[in-house]
Amino acid sequence: MAVATRTFRRPQPVLGRLAMAIPVVLAVALGTAGGTLLSGALLSWPPGPETGGPGTTPLPTPDASPTDAPTLQPSPDPTRSPRPTPDATRRPTPDATPIPTQPPTVAPTPVPPADPPACRYDDLLTFHPGLDSWRKSLLDTIYALPGSYAPYDLVDSSSAGLNRGYPIRAIVLDDLAALVADARAAGAKLGVVSGYRSHAQQAVTFQHWVEVAGYEAALRTSARAGHSEHQLGTTLDFTTDGGPAPWEYADWATTREGAWMAANAWRYGFVMSYPRDAFAQTCYDYEPWHYRYVGRELAHRIQSSGLPPRLVLWGIQ
Ligand code: DAL
Ligand code: ZN
Repeated sequence: MAVATRTFRRPQPVLGRLAMAIPVVLAVALGTAGGTLLSGALLSWPPGPETGGPGTTPLPTPDASPTDAPTLQPSPDPTRSPRPTPDATRRPTPDATPIPTQPPTVAPTPVPPADPPACRYDDLLTFHPGLDSWRKSLLDTIYALPGSYAPYDLVDSSSAGLNRGYPIRAIVLDDLAALVADARAAGAKLGVVSGYRSHAQQAVTFQHWVEVAGYEAALRTSARAGHSEHQLGTTLDFTTDGGPAPWEYADWATTREGAWMAANAWRYGFVMSYPRDAFAQTCYDYEPWHYRYVGRELAHRIQSSGLPPRLVLWGIQ
């Protein structure tokens, strides 16, 4: 095939027509598989731009050598490869439109994009809305869980050594119990004021803050229904055991409990979702009491990055 290709390096029109006929004849002679192979080889043979022959298509890259063996490999998934590869230039039908095999929103990206979208308010379904995706479900002012999202494995906060009355997913229990015990051993007596909140409870919570502070202020401190990490069942609002709600302190992170959490929670798989001075990245005001469980490995990665969790999560969507 390579010899035939070189033979027809600068064809006259009649030879061009012969060349087009060759794969058809050989396809009949060799059967479908052999014919397809030859068709691919010969149809990719280049009458280049210099010939200007009818029915020719200039190859877009100079590195497509006419002596290269033809390839019938599927074209690379355009969602994973930003630039064409030499294989893409040798497809038998250069004008065919590539069909993405996966929507970009679910394709894993090995290198996280630099930044998530700028803060705005929308109601888009999060990229990973399944109950098993709790570790990476990205929730912010744009992306939300479905209203039907409700964990099936809720247990009471007292199972982890905290005050009772706040549901949390059982998958959080072991690390949470270790955190609470180690904090207590260090003199930090943790309490909890919120755990799992259903979609309906979050609607009530948001409306409460609207009535307390007005709609614009509520948007900065409370998530609209569907957008709260509390609906995951893996997120808690901590406070000082026996003390007021954490937002009643000037800065709960300056208390013994808040400081211990800020320094150590990541070791147990918990991250502070809304750190100080990060509104432009998190789209919420500072909340030193709001911790989301992401597991020890991801928490370590987030801690090491020095970035707000939203940015790291965005990179693994
Ligand atoms: N306070 C956080 C943003 C929430 O409502 O989930
Ligand atoms: Zn919270």
